[in-house]
Amino acid sequence: MSRKRVAVLISGRGSNMAALIDAAKDKTFPAEIVLVLSNRPDAGGLATASATGIATEVVEHTQYGKDRAAFEAALQAALVKHRIEIVCLAGFMRLLTAGFVDRWPERMINIHPALLPAFKGLDTHQRALDAGAKVHGATVHFVVPEMDAGPIIMQGVVAVSPDDNEQTLGQRVLAVEHRIYPQALKMLAEGRVRVIDGRCLIDGVPVSDAGTTAPPD
Ligand code: GRF
Repeated sequence: MSRKRVAVLISGRGSNMAALIDAAKDKTFPAEIVLVLSNRPDAGGLATASATGIATEVVEHTQYGKDRAAFEAALQAALVKHRIEIVCLAGFMRLLTAGFVDRWPERMINIHPALLPAFKGLDTHQRALDAGAKVHGATVHFVVPEMDAGPIIMQGVVAVSPDDNEQTLGQRVLAVEHRIYPQALKMLAEGRVRVIDGRCLIDGVPVSDAGTTAPPD
């Protein structure tokens, strides 16, 4: 079976992008990263991608003003040009409209630094600390028009220590992100993920029975 052609969309340093690129270096990995696309020309991840020989594109949202449809049309054109089959959002800091999202049904995934549905949005680590959460983590999910709300493919858990601050907790969650994002992409590219009634099944079994919840470290 041919490897799925993947685009990674970034806005910043791209450490999750790098984890995906690293995993896909293995020729037996069922997906290849063929494009890194950023909405910001200064995104650090662009240089990392170029250094590994991966094509990069910049679609600057600022050039489109309030015209989100035109911005998204430019994104779509870049994805079509590179014959992309799966889109991975990795710290891509633009909300996408239904008009775009609906073009990628069950083919666009995101990594979120919290155990969804808790702590959608930003500042997840501080909010988890403020809430006194005992466990925290990261989630890979399908992208739907509502932010951070799509079916959950995989989650990884970390224990919150009483000594944690936003930075220490964030570092441990990031390590989990780098572990689970490639695993989730692998399962998706292998065609093992199905969505039934808004919930993911992996090889026909619920996510929690499919070994897709990493234990606390
Ligand atoms: C990660 O924490 C990711 O979960 C969130 O944005 C951050 C991006 O970091 N969506 P990086 O650019 O992958 O290093």
